[in-house]
Amino acid sequence: MTRHIAPLIQTKRFDRYFEPFCGSAAVFLSLGFKGPAFLNDKQSQIIKIYRAIKDDPAMLFAEFRMLSEAMYEKGGSVYYDVRENARSAADWLFLFYSSFNGLIRFSNKDPNKFNASWGKRYSKLGDALSMKKPVHELVTMERLNEMSALFANASLACGDYWDCIKDCGKGDMIYLDPPYTFNGKDEASEVYNMGWGEAEDRLLAERLAELESRGALWILSNVSESRGKRNKLYMDELYADHKKKEIPYKYTIGGGQPATEVKELLVLSKY
Ligand SMILES: C[S@@+](CC[C@H](N)C(=O)[O-])C[C@H]1O[C@@H](n2cnc3c(N)ncnc32)[C@H](O)[C@@H]1O
Repeated sequence: MTRHIAPLIQTKRFDRYFEPFCGSAAVFLSLGFKGPAFLNDKQSQIIKIYRAIKDDPAMLFAEFRMLSEAMYEKGGSVYYDVRENARSAADWLFLFYSSFNGLIRFSNKDPNKFNASWGKRYSKLGDALSMKKPVHELVTMERLNEMSALFANASLACGDYWDCIKDCGKGDMIYLDPPYTFNGKDEASEVYNMGWGEAEDRLLAERLAELESRGALWILSNVSESRGKRNKLYMDELYADHKKKEIPYKYTIGGGQPATEVKELLVLSKY
């Protein structure tokens, strides 16, 4: 999706860039924007990693590499030991890259307890299909240095999205990618979505109208259709009179499952 979003942002003129649900920060990192930027996510471990990348990428890489080499030699026991007592940015970076399918999942009983299983990769003891190379060959020092330079003018916050953007107005560009909820809720998505639901979508729409009236530019991501079912809330109600782009997309979870067809949605502010 990044390749569809970045050009829409780059064709606009703005002084400050905001990404209040930044997650992997893929959009920000692809923009090459050198001006003041404000990145935020409610998940503290992600922001902890970005702060370490910004402040001291060499130290982060050295710690990450030690864990990576240990897992390459000894396998999953290293992953599970780190998971038990994860604290540092290097611990979290290591876990997020080494978990099953890169899953970032916390317990619903204790939101600080990471509970994704080991991906059985990046170890000489992994299974037959696994990538038998250390994980630090994926997250290289060169990449961390590039990211550190991109974060140089970025403020990195951990909190609710509204605290990040509530003072925005003319000259500001905001890219928003909140949790998607229109496919319904189950226990797993409740945890993943951090309590985000229809009420939060409605409040967000009111707030975006307010920011729009102050002259802020924004682009909002969601899903307009999944398995033939239409996201009526976004398409026909909250953003009925906004310009939208729909981008068809297929993804597979693996294990011989049929591909899921979705249409990604981008809603654009009016000005
Ligand atoms: C759909 S994901 C964003 C994905 C991101 N664009 C990426 O490329 O990885 C939604 C993100 O919103 C964060 N989040 C959920 N509720 C939030 C809130 N109230 N305020 C800020 N961030 C929130 C989650 O931690 C998650 O990283």
